[in-house]
Amino acid sequence: MRIDILTLFPEMFASFLDGSLLGEARRNGLIEVCLTNIRDHAEGVHRQVDDRPYGGGPGMLLMPGPVVSCVESVQREGAAPGHLVMLTPGGRRLDQALVEELSRRERLVLLCGRYEGFDDRIRATLDPDMVSIGDYVLSGGEVAAMVIVDAVARLLPGVLGDAASAHQDSFSGADRLVEGPQYTRPREFRGLTVPDVLLSGDHGRIATWRREQALRATSRRVSAHPSSPSRS
Ligand code: 6GU
Repeated sequence: MRIDILTLFPEMFASFLDGSLLGEARRNGLIEVCLTNIRDHAEGVHRQVDDRPYGGGPGMLLMPGPVVSCVESVQREGAAPGHLVMLTPGGRRLDQALVEELSRRERLVLLCGRYEGFDDRIRATLDPDMVSIGDYVLSGGEVAAMVIVDAVARLLPGVLGDAASAHQDSFSGADRLVEGPQYTRPREFRGLTVPDVLLSGDHGRIATWRREQALRATSRRVSAHPSSPSRS
C-alpha cells in the first residue's frame, strides 16, 4: 500500500514512521509513506496557506488554492490517484470497521488540516472521505493521520509477525468484542495468580473461557460508556 500524507508539519512524522512496526514494514516494502508539505504549493513570497475567516471569528482557515493544488499534484503522481481522506473532527468517526475498509485501498491520500479548519470549498472541490478519530478536538489532523496509518498498517499482510494476532485483536471479530484479560509469567504476582484454565492445556476450554471473558469485558465497557457505538 502507498500512503501519502499532506501536511504543513511533515517533520512531526519522522520518529513515528521510523518506529519499530512501521519502520520495519517500510524497509520490507509492505508500505510506502510519502510526505508532502502543503506549503510547497503556496504562492507568493510569503507562501501563505491560511487566512482569517470571512464573517469574523477566531483563528485561521486553510486556503483552497494551495490545498487543492497540493492534492491534485500528489494524486497525479503514481499509478492511481488513491482514496482521498480529509482529517476533520466533523467526519465519520473512525472505528475498526472503517480501519478495515481503508486497509483494502491500494493507495490512501491523507489530508491534514491545521489552524481552525479548512475553507469549505476544499471539501466542495475534492469531495473527500471526511474522517474524525473521535469526539474531541485536536489542534491538527497530524496526530489523527498517525492513528490511521498505525491502525491500517498492522492489518496489511506481512506487517505483523504473527498473522493471527490482528484477527484476535479487540474489535476485530464479526461481533466486535474487546479482548478479555491476558497473562504472561510469572504465574503469581503479588498474590495474584493466573487463572487455572490457561495452564490446563485444554484448548477447547481455553477458547470458551476467553470468549466468556471477552463478552464480559465488552458489556462492562458498554455500560460504562452508554454512547459507545459497539452497542449498535
Ligand atoms: Cl481528524 N482533526 C482534528 N483537528 N481534531 C480531531 C480529529 C481530526 N478527530 C478528532 N478530533
